[in-house]
Amino acid sequence: MTETTIQNFNAKVSLIEWFDIHRRLLPWRKNSNPYAIWLSEIILQQTRVDQGLPYWERFMEAFPNVKALANAPSDQVMALWAGLGYYSRARNLHRSAQQVVNLGDFPRSSSELLLLPGVGPYTAAAIASICFKERCPALDGNALRVYSRFFAIADRIDRSSTIKIIREKAIHLLDEERPGDSNQAIMDLGSRVCTPNQPKCPDCPLKTRCEAYRRGTMASFPVKPAKKAPKSEDWHFQIHQFGKEFALMKRPDSGIWGGLWCFPILEELTPSLAKELQCGHLLSHRKLRLFFHEKTVSHAKIDPALQWFTLKELKNLGLPVPIRWWFEEKNYF
Ligand code: ADE
Ligand code: SF4
Repeated sequence: MTETTIQNFNAKVSLIEWFDIHRRLLPWRKNSNPYAIWLSEIILQQTRVDQGLPYWERFMEAFPNVKALANAPSDQVMALWAGLGYYSRARNLHRSAQQVVNLGDFPRSSSELLLLPGVGPYTAAAIASICFKERCPALDGNALRVYSRFFAIADRIDRSSTIKIIREKAIHLLDEERPGDSNQAIMDLGSRVCTPNQPKCPDCPLKTRCEAYRRGTMASFPVKPAKKAPKSEDWHFQIHQFGKEFALMKRPDSGIWGGLWCFPILEELTPSLAKELQCGHLLSHRKLRLFFHEKTVSHAKIDPALQWFTLKELKNLGLPVPIRWWFEEKNYF
């Protein structure tokens, strides 16, 4: 359990002082009208501030209060939302407005706000802290990045257990009187200072208390789940050789090496001393191991889809890189 240590106390004070100087000037920050705040938070769920701002202004003008929005025809709400994307947000906005009108007013706690359509834990915490001074951290991807660095959280950030730990710790950075400003300070830090790449730590009000900065390991946080191991595949090429001529077939236009000439691929394998050529780097999602099975044959007996080429012809043909390597390695090219 985290306590209000002197470290946390100092960070909390630095954060709110930084916000008073560096806060972004956004129109919904001028007051704590729950309707205006709620509208801004729904718009900003999947939209950047600069893109969302004109929409917020248009909505506030068309529907100055929650009752006006609740009573509007849904076509008008959808039309005003046009261009913002994620249209379920607009439908939920309209339904929420009607619920709020039925309730008589906005719910005042994060747990009750969570019951409104389209309001998730982040939005509920943002509204409750900004409008009703509830001391609850608003945790979205940006905030989780800032906190995971500040506390040097070594657990995977996609786990709910990790988010729970961060929530318990983060509370101590929220000002008792102005938890909404503390949350918004974290949002502003996440978008302008504690950025995903190359955070601007020297400009950060939390730098003297930040564990990742102290260790110089900002880039190690947040800890993300490991990428899936690339799928490994083995391909066996059958090389038909007749003197200095080789039989190749054209690859289908779609897929790997589409339209290029290639040795045919063996479907059934007989044990042999195949030469292996590793070329894991060829394709980003796949690790391919290539094997070359050599066979001297006569012109007559092979698959009609194959075509014979002289070495001179092959040199001018579109060949996949590993096929070219094979010819080079054998000193044919
Ligand atoms: N993104 C989501 N909510 C925000 C807010 N209140 N201030 C700045 N950015 C935000
Ligand atoms: Fe992020 Fe750097 Fe500030 Fe730590 S000191 S919170 S890593 S910007």
